[in-house]
Amino acid sequence: MRQSLSKESLQQLFTEARTHHTWTNKPVSDDTLHAIYDLTKWGPTSVNALPMRIVFVKSKQHKDKLTACVSGSNVGQINEAPVTAIISMDTKFYNYLPTLFPAFDAKAMFTSNAAASESTAFRNSSLQGAYFMLAVRSLGLDVGPMSGFDNAKADEAFFKGTSWKSNFLCNSGYGDDTKVFPRGPRLSFEQTCKIV
Ligand SMILES: Cc1cc2nc3c(=O)[nH]c(=O)nc-3n(C[C@H](O)[C@H](O)[C@H](O)COP(=O)(O)O)c2cc1C
Repeated sequence: MRQSLSKESLQQLFTEARTHHTWTNKPVSDDTLHAIYDLTKWGPTSVNALPMRIVFVKSKQHKDKLTACVSGSNVGQINEAPVTAIISMDTKFYNYLPTLFPAFDAKAMFTSNAAASESTAFRNSSLQGAYFMLAVRSLGLDVGPMSGFDNAKADEAFFKGTSWKSNFLCNSGYGDDTKVFPRGPRLSFEQTCKIV
């Protein structure tokens, strides 16, 4: 029978987890990146479409390419983080649907409907980006998500001539706990939820 996670696990995933802007130099192995994806992929997406794609940027060459698309303090954050994930989406995700969702011909819903493909890719890659962040935290690493960049420029630099598009960036590694920003408050249940 499934049980609630331990208090410590809930703290690590949610209540004590912080967004990190400063990173220690502890490296992140490629095996860890595989382990992160192998948890992330189990999160649900509509028609099991799995539209998220990730480019893990580790090398100086590709960090330079990425920071050219980024402004302000985000440049330093990318340069310091051991890895920056470009959380992206494949707008032609539907090509995998015959394998991923054999129950019916779901591919046909998207091939001639660009608006449906775009919204499905964006919604579900955003969800997968959230699963990604929880997967990173569940393995004991930290995240620093960022949307302060020029998506069109990044798409030109990394995905030219492909059906992939960037969604948001996520620095990952082992954050410096002494340098987190002051914790922002959260809205209460009463402010955000209704039970009807
Ligand atoms: C999608 C997204 C985009 C963000 N963009 C940036 C950004 O461009 N630069 C930055 O320094 N922080 C960015 N943040 C960090 C948020 O400000 C931070 O997660 C939020 O204030 C909560 O902080 P906490 O997790 O420490 O409570 C972003 C977070 C998310 C989820």
